[in-house]
Amino acid sequence: MTAQLIDGIALSKKIRFEVAQRAKALKEIGIQPGLAVILVGDNPASQVYVRNKVKACEESGIRSVMEKYDGSMTELALLERVAALNSDPAVHGILVQLPLPAHIDAHKVIEAISPEKDVDGFHVASAGALMVGQPGFWPCTPYGCMKMLDSISYPLKGKHAVVIGRSNIVGKPMALMLLQQSATVTICHSATPDLKAMTLQADVVVAAVGKINVLTADMVKPGAVVIDVGMNRNQDGKLCGDVDFESVRQVAGWITPVPGGVGPMTITMLLVNTLTAAERLGRAH
Ligand code: GUN
Repeated sequence: MTAQLIDGIALSKKIRFEVAQRAKALKEIGIQPGLAVILVGDNPASQVYVRNKVKACEESGIRSVMEKYDGSMTELALLERVAALNSDPAVHGILVQLPLPAHIDAHKVIEAISPEKDVDGFHVASAGALMVGQPGFWPCTPYGCMKMLDSISYPLKGKHAVVIGRSNIVGKPMALMLLQQSATVTICHSATPDLKAMTLQADVVVAAVGKINVLTADMVKPGAVVIDVGMNRNQDGKLCGDVDFESVRQVAGWITPVPGGVGPMTITMLLVNTLTAAERLGRAH
């Protein structure tokens, strides 16, 4: 059996079209959705990510303001910029690109963002809202993974989902989202003694550790859904995920490719969150 692909590019296109429609509807009632993106320093990967986010906004009718600062910016100056954006009614979403330079406390900066504008879903208030099932902003990458499962109408209720990785940005929120859909959820990580014993029981595997070949064909139950969050470079400089794609696709029922899987969905869900923020804030005014 060869797994069916879950195409993140095609799904992104469909969702971004819906975002553009929602942006148009807001503009008709006098609200121009706006995202502020702050980049501190000159991390090359961050520059590419930020450029892609700004471009995606423009294509979907969301106004984006990109603020670029020198790596020597003080924490206080950054906190002041966040405070100014919090009270700017033209800004509905605020994103501070990570990582920040070492002299800035990233947690402190994220906590300074108003939860109503926390479109990354990184604020403790957003994490808490997800934990208790209240409206808030979901982190974009796991949110995108849920949309991919949704796109194949996969019934999660009663299924066993194994999440590999326990980061605050992907692993932990992913587990909570799967739990909310009534899956039985196992979180595995670097101290899990027998990862294969866990993944062999999984109907759904989400690999989110940032290491090549964390999941190989012998670790996958036939027909399982495999979601690959990894973004790694192999020895030849080629972009690849955490999953050994060529072997796992022979066993799995569904699989997301890298590139063209979860990656485009992350930016798409940022657009969705920004639109939602604009709709909520627009209604409140
Ligand atoms: N750095 C890498 N990914 C992300 C992201 O999704 N949001 C932010 N703010 N920084 C990142």
